[in-house]
Amino acid sequence: MTTQILGTGSYAPEKVVTNDDLAQIVDTSDEWIQSRTGIRERRIATKESNSEMAAIAAKRALEQSGVQAQEIDLILMATSSADYCFPNGACEVQAAIGAQNAVCYDISAACSGFIYALNTAHAYICSGIVRTALVIGSDVLSKLIDWTDRSTCVLFGDGAGAVVVRASDHGVLGVKMGSDGSRKNALVCGARTNGNFLLGKKPEFGYMTMDGQEVFKFAVKTVPEVINQLLTDTNTDKSEIKYFVLHQANHRIIESVAKRLRVDISRFPANMERYGNTSGGSVPLLLDEINRRGELQRGDKIMLVGFGAGLTWGATLIEW
Ligand code: ACO
Repeated sequence: MTTQILGTGSYAPEKVVTNDDLAQIVDTSDEWIQSRTGIRERRIATKESNSEMAAIAAKRALEQSGVQAQEIDLILMATSSADYCFPNGACEVQAAIGAQNAVCYDISAACSGFIYALNTAHAYICSGIVRTALVIGSDVLSKLIDWTDRSTCVLFGDGAGAVVVRASDHGVLGVKMGSDGSRKNALVCGARTNGNFLLGKKPEFGYMTMDGQEVFKFAVKTVPEVINQLLTDTNTDKSEIKYFVLHQANHRIIESVAKRLRVDISRFPANMERYGNTSGGSVPLLLDEINRRGELQRGDKIMLVGFGAGLTWGATLIEW
């Protein structure tokens, strides 16, 4: 028994913000951003809430899979920017799509969130607790960014992706995940729970802060390691992998990973030039684009990989 992806969907907000647009509000340039990150533009949610983006992605995945919303037993939403502390984003999506038979909760693992959620759904399916699940990655980090901080605001965009998964005899071949809380300060978004009873202080929202070089070093070391571990665990040769679908943080990270693995960069699809880093949304958004271009045939092996704040990382090896 394993987990098969039956359908994919995604959504990115309408509003396009280019590097030149950002150069109007902070001291940066298209040249700096493109050469350091590969990002040309990003989408920013000006009308859409996180759960609205997630629900559109979910509906598109359901439509493609031919599964009815009532058949979903579990909705997992990977997000670090849910509309509310509670209710969770997955419950909001449940209401929007009419999946009244599902149990719903969010998973918080930043840019690794979608992989954590997919692997969690896989565990539920393999245990027999759940037959059909909807797994979403969706973030609106534009709402958590300090728009005066050029070192972070140029990197991120908003977006959502979703997959419908079901128990099957083929699909997920193996999973691997890790976390290192001792490096938690490399990427932080301030607390929402800093109200104080004794001081009579209301909670305030914090902004994102990042040690960019620390995150870069972590990614280029850990991503090849987790890929190699999962290849070894599943007795798979890297030549069998059609695509390595990595979290879209930064093109230099992907180039470095490809080089360390000695795999041609053409097997690392990318879309961060159009979306920036959409955090939990990035892997399913890219997967949906590849899928809808018709590039995945039954039997193709793909490796999905996430890495991000926590620090957290994870990978899923799938036979399509
Ligand atoms: N425009 C112009 N100059 C800038 C900008 C900007 N947007 N941001 C920083 N700079 C300046 C800095 O102030 C610094 O100037 P100084 O030398 O006068 O002090 C100079 O550029 C170099 O800064 P560095 O931080 O050393 O730049 P670096 O080459 O490391 O690139 C970057 C920064 C792109 C963030 C890089 O560290 C990186 O890719 N890190 C990975 C982080 C990442 O991808 N995070 C995403 C979230 S985490 C995740 O998704 C896993």
